[in-house]
Amino acid sequence: MYSTHAVINRTPRAKDAELAACRWPEDALHFIPDWVYTSEPVYEREMERIFRGRTWNYVALEAEIPNTGDFKRSYVGATPVVVARAADGSISVFENRCAHRGAEFCRHGQGNTSEFVCPYHQWSYDLKGNLQGVPFKRGVNREGGMPKDFKNEDHGLVKLHVTTRHGVIFASYSNEVEAIDEYLTPEILKDFDVVFPGKKLKVLGYYKNELPCNWKMYHENLKDPYHATLLHSFLVVFGLLVAGNKAAMIADPVHGRHGTMASAKTEDKYAEVSAENKKEMRSFHEGMRLQDDRFLDFVKEFDSPWSVTMQTVWPNLVVQREMNTLGVRQIVPNGPNSMLMLWTMFGYEDDTEEMTQHRLRQGNLMGPAGFLGLEDNEAMKFVQEGVRRSSTDRNVLKLDSGHVGTSNSLISEAAIRAMYSHYRDVMGF
Ligand SMILES: [Fe+2]
Repeated sequence: MYSTHAVINRTPRAKDAELAACRWPEDALHFIPDWVYTSEPVYEREMERIFRGRTWNYVALEAEIPNTGDFKRSYVGATPVVVARAADGSISVFENRCAHRGAEFCRHGQGNTSEFVCPYHQWSYDLKGNLQGVPFKRGVNREGGMPKDFKNEDHGLVKLHVTTRHGVIFASYSNEVEAIDEYLTPEILKDFDVVFPGKKLKVLGYYKNELPCNWKMYHENLKDPYHATLLHSFLVVFGLLVAGNKAAMIADPVHGRHGTMASAKTEDKYAEVSAENKKEMRSFHEGMRLQDDRFLDFVKEFDSPWSVTMQTVWPNLVVQREMNTLGVRQIVPNGPNSMLMLWTMFGYEDDTEEMTQHRLRQGNLMGPAGFLGLEDNEAMKFVQEGVRRSSTDRNVLKLDSGHVGTSNSLISEAAIRAMYSHYRDVMGF
């Protein structure tokens, strides 16, 4: 773990001075300054302006809390929250911080309860986050206790706005954030609704890992189709994504903050790669074969031209459809130099047992140690180590230069440029 102790000794004035010194390079579209990945004051401003700003943050799937009293611990940015379903069927999201002395009162990842009781002084809250009970509220023997004018209503948990889209739950601190479908934009909704058509989901399992990199790198990674054709041997050798396949890197046209990396695999299980393209890809290995061929089966289950859509929903959600493996990944920032990745893999309630087994088998593509997930984790760690400890101060973003947003070429950084245009706006850089 990287320590964030440095911030404790930094005075507000020193923080302001550090922020004031953060100037984006002049050719703003084609360079990213290193400090966006490493600066503590920049990270704090991100928490305030992005995660507690006008955004919808993914917090859970409805399938995880189907019944009254079901709850799940989650995060909005780095802030711990609880997602709970009340008796009237409504979903509430509130901070996992007791209104009394600040204890993170909910200690279980998931469960069912009739109320939340803080372990420290046993203040209790209902399923909507309202304060119900304060022990010894009137004191003992007429001594001590709360002042007469203390009202439970004034001391509930901090509640967030909640919305859902086809079984996916989002929360926001903002009163001004647009409705979720408008937030996502039609271009992103198109592939989002393929995975979430409104059918009931069946959760298949979880992964959780820490990545020693800045949270934005994960967005960048999934807006960077260039690396996919180079880093990932598995994609290339087995024809899942090869330079020259039908593919697109779609950015939402309103803010450029969301993205869909989409591709259509070749018909054959093993790719035909031209001699010219092979020369460009060191990760291509001729003649590599799988022991269990079923792993690469693609059951056509969706009305979509794509076999793969990897969506980034700003600021903390990844929706994964990699052939028949479906999942969401929640990005939890953990200081500038670290992030947590919480994965929830699922299928549909009406899947056959055979389909469930297929999804589980193919699930080995992803996850922290998946055939595809593994290399990204390593690459991002290498980038963080590079930007933290070198003498240079910027990243170069010149592929497909000048273009911002959607690109039909995989050899493009146009979607990363779009994301950082939005980022600069919101952050004031
Ligand atoms: Fe990757």
